[in-house]
Amino acid sequence: KRMFIGIDIGGTNMRAALIDKQGKILQLNKIPTDNAAGAENASKRLVETCRSLVQKSPEWGGNVVGIGMGVAGKINAKEGLVVFSPNIPCMRNYPLGIELEEGLSIPVVMENDANVFGIGENWIGAGHALDNWVGLTLGTGVGGCLILEGRLWEGDHLGFAAELGHIIVQPGGPLCNCGLRGCLEAHASGRALMQGVEEAVEQGALSNGPLFEKWQRNALNPKVIYECALQEDPTALKLFNRMGWALGLAIANLFTALGIRHAIIGGGVSASWDLFVGPLRESLANHSSFLSPEEMVILRSSLQDDAALVGAAKLAMDLTV
Ligand code: BGC
Ligand code: NA
Ligand code: ZN
Repeated sequence: KRMFIGIDIGGTNMRAALIDKQGKILQLNKIPTDNAAGAENASKRLVETCRSLVQKSPEWGGNVVGIGMGVAGKINAKEGLVVFSPNIPCMRNYPLGIELEEGLSIPVVMENDANVFGIGENWIGAGHALDNWVGLTLGTGVGGCLILEGRLWEGDHLGFAAELGHIIVQPGGPLCNCGLRGCLEAHASGRALMQGVEEAVEQGALSNGPLFEKWQRNALNPKVIYECALQEDPTALKLFNRMGWALGLAIANLFTALGIRHAIIGGGVSASWDLFVGPLRESLANHSSFLSPEEMVILRSSLQDDAALVGAAKLAMDLTV
C-alpha cells in the first residue's frame, strides 16, 4: 500500500505523521522545533523522526512513497528552501526540503503550513462542501489560506500566497515578529497573548491574581492565559476580546475584497473559540457593508490538529500518482 508522510513545521513543534490514502493518521511523532538549537539541529532531528515512520510503515502494510511538508513561513518549493519564517528565525534560506529528501531518498514537496491546512480541510474537513472560503490558523503565529473555486490560491507562486497573519489591522499597533506593527498576528496568535500579558505587567495593569502568579513563575503559555480568562481574569479576557476584534476586522475586509462569505478557523489557539467568537462576530458585522451577519459563516476546523498533516500528505499524494 502506498503511504505518505505529512509534516507540519511550526514555531513551537515539528510534527510528522504516517498517513494512508484515505487521509487516516496511522502514527504521529512530535518533537520541539527548538529555534535556539539552530536549523541544522532541527533538520537532523526531523530526518530521524521521519526515518522512524518509514521504518514503521511495513507494520501497517505499506511503504512511504512521498512526503509533504507544511512550513510556518515563506517557502521556495522549487528549490526546497525555507526562505523566511517570522517564528522560526533560524530557518532563513535554509534547505530543509533538500536535506529531508536527501536524508530519506523519498520525494519531498513543500508548502506553507496554513496552505496545507487549507488543502486538508478542503479535502476531508470543514471546507469539503464549500467552493470559496478563507482559512485562518491560530498558533504561535497566524496563518492564512484562500480556497477559491475549490482550489488553493497560489498567487504568483512567490511562496507567500495568503500570508493573512501579516495584514495590518492596526497601523502603529503591537510589534510583530515579521518586523511590522499592527499585524493580525500581533493580535490573534499565541505569541500575541503572551506579549499582551507581558505588556499588562509592564504597564502595572496586572499585578496580582492567578495570571500574574503564573507570569512570575515563568509558567505562562497560551493555554494558561485561556484558563485564566475562563476564570474571568480581566487582562486575559481583554486579550481574547482583542483577538476576536482583530479576526473579525480582517475577515470582513477579506469577504469584502473577494465576494465570499465563509471562513474556517483552526490551529491550537482556536481551542479558545468560545472566548473570541462572540467579539469576532460583532466585529465582522461592524466592518461589513455588503453582507448581513446571517450571511457570514464562521466555521471551526473539523480536522483540528490534524488538518495541516493531512493536507501535507494530500499534497504529496497528488504529486506522486
Ligand atoms: C507565518 C506564516 C505561517 C503562520 C502560521 C506566520 O507568522 O508568516 O507563513 O503560515 O505564521 O504558522
Ligand atoms: Na498561507
Ligand atoms: Zn507581521
